[in-house]
Amino acid sequence: MLSQLDLVIVLAAGEGTRMKSAHPKVLHKIAGATLLEHVISAISKLEGKELRVVIGASAEEVKNELNRIHPSSKTILQEVRSGTGDAVRWALTKDDSGTVLVCAGDTPLISTETLRSLIVEHKKQGAAATVLTTEVPNPTGYGRIVREKNEFTRIVEERDASPEEREIIEINSGIYAFDISKLRGALSELGKGNSQGEEYLTDVIAILKSKGEKVSTFEAQDFSEFLGINDRSQLADVAAIFRDRINEALMLSGVTIVDPSSTWIDLSVEIESDTRIEPGTAIAGKSRINSGAVIGPRTTLIDCVVGSGAKVFESHCESSSIGENAKVGPFTHLRAGTVLAGDVKVGSFVEMKNAQVGTGSKVPHLSYVGDAKIGKESNIGAATVFVNYDGVEKHETKIGDHVRIGSDSMLIAPVSIGDGAYTAAGSVINEDVPAGALGIGRARQVNILGWVLKKRKGTKSAAAAEKKENGK
Ligand code: UD1
Ligand code: MG
Repeated sequence: MLSQLDLVIVLAAGEGTRMKSAHPKVLHKIAGATLLEHVISAISKLEGKELRVVIGASAEEVKNELNRIHPSSKTILQEVRSGTGDAVRWALTKDDSGTVLVCAGDTPLISTETLRSLIVEHKKQGAAATVLTTEVPNPTGYGRIVREKNEFTRIVEERDASPEEREIIEINSGIYAFDISKLRGALSELGKGNSQGEEYLTDVIAILKSKGEKVSTFEAQDFSEFLGINDRSQLADVAAIFRDRINEALMLSGVTIVDPSSTWIDLSVEIESDTRIEPGTAIAGKSRINSGAVIGPRTTLIDCVVGSGAKVFESHCESSSIGENAKVGPFTHLRAGTVLAGDVKVGSFVEMKNAQVGTGSKVPHLSYVGDAKIGKESNIGAATVFVNYDGVEKHETKIGDHVRIGSDSMLIAPVSIGDGAYTAAGSVINEDVPAGALGIGRARQVNILGWVLKKRKGTKSAAAAEKKENGK
């Protein structure tokens, strides 16, 4: 098969100095996945034999990520980072032969189709090296493809290019197919005679050419696939392209996205058709939105499942499940372990954590619900606090079906409120309330008559009270 590879090498050892980050460049994320994950996901669909990843800077961190995304890949440690040519040399063994695809770990938009076309073209041409190139409106920072009398002769890096060479808009994507034995020979002749004092992989082109080998280019049309990420500004540019692609695909599958430019959805998210995403919304991780749901405006969902017909707006929710036709928001914070059944309502300034709420129950205003099980069709009055933490341990509160918790109740866990029970507003409940009972936990009210007239003489309050007393 023409697209069959013998080896794939991904270069991911660089420091990523221009990112100015404590973390390796290839582990920065776009659309919820690391740059490395994007590249490897495109590669892993190719017909290839072995994947080797050259690592160096923050090697352990990169290795852990590789174990997660592609456990069968092999990592090779480039002990001293002295250029892309040196990195490839580390990755090759003396027994390798056939065709190798070399990719950088910092071009996350690359597609499997383009890589496959490069390999097929390389094999058809019988070239020693084929460079994937493209024309870009702004070639700054990229290696330029130099042609003499229309014949591809070498690649020159921006830093080493003459003013005329910098005018060239055909760039090196950093992706190549090589005949392994010819590549090995050329790598052994690499020098460091450039402005960075590094061994550039790009120099193998001129070396091969001088040996009379065939070097060719494969020019791709869509330059956005090769946008390399070297700094945070490029990270944002590429993230915006991913966002647009994801949103476009979702819209074509039947999702209404009111303002695609302010809607950020991870690749890993699943959204059914006939859903509506309002402006300023981010949906991340392993989230799933079922048909008929409306999310946003200004809502963040991370690892959440939202049932059909539910509405979540102006809210922040993590690792939670929101049932069918439930209403969440505005200004609701659902934390990990929240499970809302169908038709639940959670309203403004409510925070929930590790809480199960039964069908049709409501927590409409200003409450904290932590470590709780609430039954069906119960109502939790405004400003109720589930007091779950005694300073050392967390405890659970259980609330039955059809319960009415009075406003401003403090439910001191562990405590349980039986089916159909009530608590009086303003109660501190630290004992179980049996089914059907009214739990009152507050001081009885005392009115001290005439107090204002005696103690606040001459105030507007006293005048108002006096007027009332005199029947005026
Ligand atoms: C490289 C190319 C440039 C091309 C551009 C495309 C070279 C010399 N230049 O430049 O022609 O237009 O990619 O994006 O190759 N790396 C290592 N070990 C090293 C150095 C780098 O593994 O010693 C890895 C990096 O982690 C990165 C990749 O190689 O993933 C490319 O290195 P980078 O420094 O980003 O090269 P560019 O300047 O982008
Ligand atoms: Mg780069």
